[in-house]
Order: sequence, then C-alpha cells, then structure tokens
Amino acid sequence: MRDVAIIGVGYTKFGEMWGRSFRDIMIEAGLEAITDAGIEGREIDAMYVGNMSGGRFIAQEHVSALIADYSGFARDFHIPATRVEAACASGGLAVREAYINVASGLHDIVVAAGVEKMTDIGTEMTADVLASASDREWEGFSGATFPGLYALIANYHMHRYGTTREDLAEVSVKNHNNGSLNPKAQFRNRISIETVLNSPLVADPLRLYDCSPITDGAAAVILAPAEVAKKYTDTPVYIKASAQASDTIALHDRRDIATLDATVFASKRAYKQAGIKPTDVDVAEVHDCFTIAEIVAYEDLGFCRKGEGGMLIREGVTAIDGDIPVNPSGGLKACGHPVGATGVKQVAEVVLQLRGDAGKRQVDGAEIGLTHNVGGTGATAVVHILSR
Ligand code: COA
Repeated sequence: MRDVAIIGVGYTKFGEMWGRSFRDIMIEAGLEAITDAGIEGREIDAMYVGNMSGGRFIAQEHVSALIADYSGFARDFHIPATRVEAACASGGLAVREAYINVASGLHDIVVAAGVEKMTDIGTEMTADVLASASDREWEGFSGATFPGLYALIANYHMHRYGTTREDLAEVSVKNHNNGSLNPKAQFRNRISIETVLNSPLVADPLRLYDCSPITDGAAAVILAPAEVAKKYTDTPVYIKASAQASDTIALHDRRDIATLDATVFASKRAYKQAGIKPTDVDVAEVHDCFTIAEIVAYEDLGFCRKGEGGMLIREGVTAIDGDIPVNPSGGLKACGHPVGATGVKQVAEVVLQLRGDAGKRQVDGAEIGLTHNVGGTGATAVVHILSR
C-alpha cells in the first residue's frame, strides 16, 4: 500500500439553492478543488461520487456519469466515474474508495466528490427519502423518521447516563457559534440555550434546533500518492488512516441503542492504522445529525468514557479553544447536511484546519484531525485520520 495525500479541496456554500442545479453545485466544488490543487483535468485518473438519493431528491440516477460528463472528464478523457452510496455516509465512503484506489497503486490522481440537492422536494417527502436509510420494513413502515429514531437514542442516553436537555442544547449553541465563523455555513446565527429549548418540538426530546437542516451542497477533495504530493502543493495533508465499519441497520437490533458500534469499531481500526490515541486528535469533524449524535460520538470515538459525553460539552472541552475542538465548521447542525456531500466536506474542512487556512474558525496549531461520518442511525461509519 502507498501513502496517500490530499492536494486540493473545495466545497460550495451550503443551504437552500433553489436557483442552482445539482450539476452546477458539483462542478463548482470540483473546480475549486482542482484550482486549489493546481492540476489539469487531464491529470485526473478516476472519480468517486458520494450521493445518497439523486433518484428521489431530483429524479436523477446515474449521477457519476452526469458529473463526469459536465466536468468534461467523460468526453475528453473517458475516466472511470463511480457512484458510492451509504446513506449519509456516502461522502465519507467516496473518500475511502478514492483512498483505496490511490493506496493500491491502481490510479494516481483520484477525485472524491459528494453532492446532494435536497430542497427541491418538501420536508415530508425529504423525511420519507431519509427514512429509506433506516430499516424500511421494521422502522420506516411503523412511522419512525430519523428525528424519531435519534429521539429514542436521546431518551435512553438521558435515562441511563443522566445527560440533560441542556447538554443537548449546548451542542447546538457551540455549533451555531462555530457556523457563524464559517462563510459557507447554512446557518450563521449565534443562538442561546433558550433558543434551543423554546424551539418547536420535532420528536420529543429533540427540538428544531437539535436537528441538522435540509441542505443543498457539494464538496470535492483530490488525492495523490504521498511521494508526488509536494509537486502540487507545499501543504499536502496525509491520510494516516481510513476505516469503515457496519452494524445492524435497525436500531432495535443493537446491543445498546445509545452506542454506535460501527463508530467504535471504525475509530479503533483508524487509531490502530494511524498509530495514535484518541487524545492525540487536535480537531474533529463528527456526525452531529442531531445534538445527541455528537454527544454519543464523543464517547464512541473514545474522547471520553461511555456516558460522559454530556460532561464534555458542559465543560467546553469540544469548543474551538477547548482540548478537543469538535465541528469548527459548524458541523451538520449549522454548516448544513447535504447528505451525500457531508463526509467529503468534513475531510475538506479538516484539511483547511491542518493547513492553517480555516480563517476565523481556525483551531490553533492543529496537526492531527479526525472525520467521522455515519450512515443511518449507525449501520455504517467511516472514520478518517489526517495529519499535516
Ligand atoms: N435548525 C434551525 N432552524 C431550522 C432548521 C434546523 N434544522 N430547519 C429549518 N429551520 C428554520 C428555517 O430556516 C426556517 O426559518 P425562517 O422561518 O426564519 O425562514 C424555519 O426553521 C422553518 O423552516 P422549514 O424549512 O419550514 O422547516 P421544516 O419544519 O420543514 O423542517 C426539520 C425542519 C427539523 C423537520 C428538518 O430540518 C429536518 O427534517 N431535519 C432533519 C434532517 C435529517 O433527518 N437528516 C438526516 C439525518 S440522519
């Protein structure tokens, strides 16, 4: 296996983009990444595109072919372009597939892209599309939506570990604060605990401000063998580990519904591959699709012991100036969650952090970063560890 570096990154502004098409936003992110890497289109050998549900959000399947066509790579260079899907972890998986491709020596320069256009259909339809990432027969057909399933996790975590309603709100306050520093975030408004506690109830105990929003957006990163990375950039960021794990698709089949074993296993594999401990992580972008998901992620990634996630947020450990800053981009909550793009954007964001290019949301002196991308309620997890 060869060492792999990231030589270019790009992501669009996240939000409601009714005036722009799926292909427009994907090409914008791709061009930003190519320009950032300073490469020519003809140097690209292959492309992976993370996309959860183009077929239902915009009635377009075969999206890898569409993107290859509109980027000019299909007609001019005929490169292989492959869509990968693992619900909300599609983007993380696209990065992992690109990594495996370069590490194996099959290809040299590979693009990992992610894109989703979710706002062209209404909220009710979107909730149904997202529910297709759960166990449709056992969960979806019983009326369980994603906010509903994560509400079960939240209730159990609160019951078992004493996590409070305010702890959940603190996650949202932190991520909105971080999002206010990110020009590409969907929400740039700072909020208070009261904003969260007084917002409309979605699925008890989760309120509007506990939920990630419905988002349009795209992201791209460009991978190259580490030995040639310096030819393209003075600041390559190295992929020290790429790991993936699975769990039961239905929440009720889990050993413990307040633990995402896919995260536990993926992160353990990643720490082993990178030769680091959780406490070595300087900055992390984790999958906070709901506030409870970030608290559970702290625990399952080993940032604290099981049940202590609430304490971590309460004590400010995961704030931008804390010991383990989490979601400086604003996370899924405030930056937004275009499901197929999120995992790629997390990697792009950590690359910016490790290069020192993250502007007002920069974490001082970050050298090792982690990304954590989850599909469904935790049936898939993808963890990457990056270093300067
Ligand atoms: N957080 C904060 N504000 C939000 C928000 C969110 N998640 N979602 C919408 N808003 C705001 C909008 O900006 C709008 O504000 P305005 O009136 O000032 O313009 C207002 O709330 C109403 O927006 P609307 O789009 O009508 O909200 P909605 O009720 O249709 O959708 C949710 C709200 C929570 C149901 C929706 O965002 C949702 O389903 N989120 C979860 C997505 C999900 O499950 N993702 C997969 C995770 S695994």
